[in-house]
Amino acid sequence: MELLLVSLVLLLVRCGQSLDNGLMRTPPMGWLAWERFRCNIDCDNDPENCISERLFMDMADRLAEDGWKELGYQYVNIDDCWAAKKRDSLGRLVADPQRFPSGIKALAQYVHLRGLKLGIYGDLGTKTCGGYPGTTLDLVELDAHTFASWDVDMLKLDGCYSNSSYKAEGYPLMSMALNITGRPIAFSCSWPAYEGGLPPRVNYTLLGEICNLWRNYDDIQDSWDSVRNIINWYGNHQQVLQPAAGPGRWNDPDMLIIGNFGLSYEQSKSQMALWAILAAPLFMSNDLRTISKKDSYILQNKLLIMINQDPLGLQGHRLLKGKDNIEVWMRELSSETMALAVFSQRTDMPYHYSTSFSQLNITTPEVFSAMDVYSGEALHNLEVDTKFTVTINPSGVVMLYVYPEKRLELNARNRRHEAGQLLL
Ligand code: GLA
Repeated sequence: MELLLVSLVLLLVRCGQSLDNGLMRTPPMGWLAWERFRCNIDCDNDPENCISERLFMDMADRLAEDGWKELGYQYVNIDDCWAAKKRDSLGRLVADPQRFPSGIKALAQYVHLRGLKLGIYGDLGTKTCGGYPGTTLDLVELDAHTFASWDVDMLKLDGCYSNSSYKAEGYPLMSMALNITGRPIAFSCSWPAYEGGLPPRVNYTLLGEICNLWRNYDDIQDSWDSVRNIINWYGNHQQVLQPAAGPGRWNDPDMLIIGNFGLSYEQSKSQMALWAILAAPLFMSNDLRTISKKDSYILQNKLLIMINQDPLGLQGHRLLKGKDNIEVWMRELSSETMALAVFSQRTDMPYHYSTSFSQLNITTPEVFSAMDVYSGEALHNLEVDTKFTVTINPSGVVMLYVYPEKRLELNARNRRHEAGQLLL
């Protein structure tokens, strides 16, 4: 009995200290307002694109009706500039009454009715990055309670207008405060991005205990330069970053900007492929009301999503970075499968790249197949020494899903078996 009591107390202490909310066992997917819609609050002149409940309702409709939700894109996330400039008489955050006349709770209900989840944004500091009310240490508990009372499902906590010691105190405090509300609220921490993203200033073990995901590095912008810069940073620091990720705790290289203005078709395919290799959260920041079919196909590629969502949750890494500006990235997946991305940072013309798995020092199943996730073409009966050639366009990628040949045969047999059963 005594022992039981002691373990119960220990359990309570543990729960109080760590997030341990069971959420986001695979990288979260959804939509986030910031990169595309920023802090546009001019609803008089730009009613369709300003930060308002209408924008989030529109995106919820699109996610629910255009096939996104079924693929896993389930979060509709508010970013900065949603709040009124002043807290209410009880010190609580309130949504801007002109732009969110129904309030956040009603918006959460709208989103939930469509089978989606709602995320909100706050900032640990005196102000948000956009100058809206921040969450100072004395207000952490109150704000966690307010978000929970609005039935919010996720919080992105930014870190403008505070210093390092303030953040070191505040992020664990918010994690605990969210836990105490009793509502499962996923926690996205911008903390490491404000500390240079690397140890010793960043403690990834602690982050894994208190946050579900965290921004490590610079804000993404609508340009290939920005995407490349992010990819390079994650490659250069993979020794630190790769082990930090796992089910329930993800590195976040920031939003997908596919469907906007800055990326070519090849570059869009590269962003999606690399984000899948990196086990990155897939938060699109684009206009789902006007997105082209071509861009939707990239974002809705089932095989890529399956790779991103692999249950092992192992982040991939850059295997090699050649003088020819060709890189090979690899992610180990469950059931003896893997993803291999051959990525070009060249700027000349399509490049023929020949290699074999043994040359890449990858151990493979005895006989395997490699399927190009974008074209669907597959190479069969490969062995570890078999040479193969891929053609990569400038700033493009060839992404291969590699699986044992035997398994496919087995699957085909299973499918026949299932079909047979259906006929009976
Ligand atoms: C910071 C964050 C961005 C966004 C803006 C909002 O720059 O890194 O993702 O939330 O603040 O002001």
